[in-house]
Amino acid sequence: MTKTVTLTIDGDSITVPEGTTILEAARQLDKDVPVICYHDATTANGLCRVCVVDVNNGRVLQPACVAACTDKATVETRNERVERSRRTILEMLNSAVDLAEAPEIQDLMDDYSVDRERFPDAKRREHDLKDDNPFYVRDYSQCVLCWRCVQVCAEDAQYTFALTLDGRGFETHVSTAFDIALTDSPCVFCGQCIGVCPTGALKPKVEFGIQQGWSMEDIQRSTRRPRRKNITIED
Ligand code: SF4
Ligand code: FES
Repeated sequence: MTKTVTLTIDGDSITVPEGTTILEAARQLDKDVPVICYHDATTANGLCRVCVVDVNNGRVLQPACVAACTDKATVETRNERVERSRRTILEMLNSAVDLAEAPEIQDLMDDYSVDRERFPDAKRREHDLKDDNPFYVRDYSQCVLCWRCVQVCAEDAQYTFALTLDGRGFETHVSTAFDIALTDSPCVFCGQCIGVCPTGALKPKVEFGIQQGWSMEDIQRSTRRPRRKNITIED
C-alpha cells in the first residue's frame, strides 16, 4: 500500500503519497507558488529558488519544486520571509540579466514589488547574439540559466545532447560543446528548447526577423537552407 503523509499548506490540510513535492501538493490546493527553473516537462533541480516556502518556520526556506512533503508539516507559501526572499532573488536576477522579453518574470516582479534599481552597479551578463543557423537565434544575455533547454535536449525529451553548460561561476552559460555552431552539433532543430525557455533567449528566426524589421525577402533568405543539388542516378 502506498504510504501517505498529511500536512497543512496555508492552513489547508492535505494527504498525499510519500515523495510528493510541496509544489505538487500546493498546486492540488490551488496555491500559487511561483517557479522559474521548474517546468512540468523537465526534471526539477532547485536552481532558481524563487519557489521557496516556509516549512515549520525552519531556519532556511525550502524550494517547493524539489522538497518532499513531510508528515505533520506546516507549510506557508507566502509569508513575510518568503516574500522578502523571492523579492531579493528577482532583484538579483534583474540586475544581471535582460528580462525585457520574459513576461511571466516581469509579472512576478510586479507581484513582489521588486525594486528594479536595487543593484545599479551589478555586473550584467552580456553575450553576443548567436545566429548560426536558419531556424533560430540564441541571445544568452536574456538567459536565466534555468537549465530547461539543456534538459529537454538531453534525457528529459530529445536525447540529442546538443546543449550543455560551459564556464564557471558568473561566467557559466549555455553552449554547444566547444562552442561549435549548432549546425555542426548534434542538434536536430526540433525546437523543444524554444518551447520551454521562459525568456526571450531562444527565438525562432522568423520572429526575430520580424522584430528587427527585416523585409520578407531578408527573412526568406536567412531562414532557408541551401537547396540540395539534384542527384542523377545513372544506370
Ligand atoms: S536559454 Fe532559456 S531555457 Fe535555456 S537555460 Fe537559458 S533561460 Fe533557460
Ligand atoms: S522553481 Fe524551484 S528552484 Fe526554481
